[in-house]
Amino acid sequence: MDIFAFFPSSLYSSISILLFSSIFIYALRWMKTSKAAPNLPPSPPKLPIIGNLHQVIGKNFHQILWKVSRKYGPIMTVHLGATPYVIISSSEFANQALKTHDQILCNRPRSKGFKRLTFDYMDVAFSPHADQWKEMRKVLVTEFLGSKRSRLFKKVVDTEVKGMLDSFSSLNTTIDLDERLFHLVTDIVSKVAVGKSYREETFRGKKLKEMLDDLVISLCGSVSDIYPGRLGLILDELLGFNRRLEKTFSNFDAFLQMVLDEHIDHTGTSDHEKDMVDACRSQLTTNEMKALLMNVLNGAIDTTTTTMVWTMSEIIKNPRVMKKLQEEIRRCVGRKSSVEEADVANMPYLKLVVKEALRLHSTVPFLLTRECVKHCQIGGYDIFPGTRVLINAWGIGRDPKVWTESASIFNPERLENLELDRSEMIPFGGGRRACPAASVATQIVEYTIANLFYSFDWQLPSGMKNEELDMEEVGSLIVVRKTPLTLVPVKYDWQD
Ligand code: HEM
Repeated sequence: MDIFAFFPSSLYSSISILLFSSIFIYALRWMKTSKAAPNLPPSPPKLPIIGNLHQVIGKNFHQILWKVSRKYGPIMTVHLGATPYVIISSSEFANQALKTHDQILCNRPRSKGFKRLTFDYMDVAFSPHADQWKEMRKVLVTEFLGSKRSRLFKKVVDTEVKGMLDSFSSLNTTIDLDERLFHLVTDIVSKVAVGKSYREETFRGKKLKEMLDDLVISLCGSVSDIYPGRLGLILDELLGFNRRLEKTFSNFDAFLQMVLDEHIDHTGTSDHEKDMVDACRSQLTTNEMKALLMNVLNGAIDTTTTTMVWTMSEIIKNPRVMKKLQEEIRRCVGRKSSVEEADVANMPYLKLVVKEALRLHSTVPFLLTRECVKHCQIGGYDIFPGTRVLINAWGIGRDPKVWTESASIFNPERLENLELDRSEMIPFGGGRRACPAASVATQIVEYTIANLFYSFDWQLPSGMKNEELDMEEVGSLIVVRKTPLTLVPVKYDWQD
């Protein structure tokens, strides 16, 4: 018996229409989802809740992720807690991110620490890509890095470098060069930005260095950066992150307020004597001024000092390079009291040496985190709005596919006559969020190195061979030497 014989024919047609439309809708949906199924970058296996944290915590993040990228490819996704990060580890894909999709990958992610320490995103480095960023970057470039400040910069750099050389002249003993160079750069940056160095002063029981170190710790991220939602907020509170952040902010804010107050009676200062604060006070609000100062003190001192230290370390470790460099500098300058700024233009080998050091030591190994604002593809993989992107500049500078098997060897001659127009080395990042101080910072490094090798021969403490100098790295936001660079300066004797 046909059971359908019990139903009226109208019901038959209704059921058929319903059935066909359901199949049609399902098929359409299937086609739509399979067409839109995203092609996400490959990802190493992750654990529930912590993602890939166990693979990176306590280790040198840039080195570990470079190794992982050898297995999973130059674009991959790693999960830090509950947050996916796309990691780019080749010059080709870095070029796509920083040039082709510069407009799309130009944002910075929002974070509790960034928000607080930038006075609610009033700064350049950590604020989203918006009009505020554009305006503040313009002020930084014209009022600190540009020609308006170049006369003051030149005077301060000359005086401070000569002061440092004089302080070495009376010594024939081991010095901690990390510390000396930190003092030099702090004094230069502070005097141009705020008119004096606060390095020796103590403020609320802390020296400037301690305040800057606290700042880096708070900027490095809270738990809520990788666990958005309630869990992160609770953990931030329980682990004391909120308390630490507030303390860091309050100390730094009060310090900056004191600096600004000390500028109130600077009205009569002539244009070429004006420091950055004098020059911008009338253009910016108090919070904008503080946020800019935070970027300058935090962005300029550690990066420039660390670049100098790595450059010195590589030269000391390579006596062949040291000899050739010293010959160039002394031949070019002749017998004078010290190197002048104009002399550096005639030192091509010095420029190669500094560039090669920057290739091997991208002091900011992952640049600053980028956030995608619109769907795009890199290497054929989909990157969606809101995705965080890290570019391993440290690894890219050492990629054997670009730099051959000898990539990790310091050899300035490799850069001779080499046209680099893509992203083979990106120690200053790239695109619209690139470091605005690349040229100024490089000039200060070159000038300092030239002077150090003009006036002194450098020896390692007794018993150590140059080739054995330890080059171990530590750090995540900025990669520094694990052990301080200790050297003996021996005044160069022109009678020899
Ligand atoms: C050798 C020294 C330096 C190195 C290696 C360095 C490196 C970098 C890197 C890698 C970035 C991130 C770029 C990106 O995301 O693509 C950056 C950004 C930045 N740097 Fe530098 N930097 C140095 C010196 C300085 C100095 C002297 C200043 C002075 C103010 C400075 C201010 C900044 C600022 C404001 C940004 C953020 C730019 C933006 O987001 O628009 N840096 N730097």
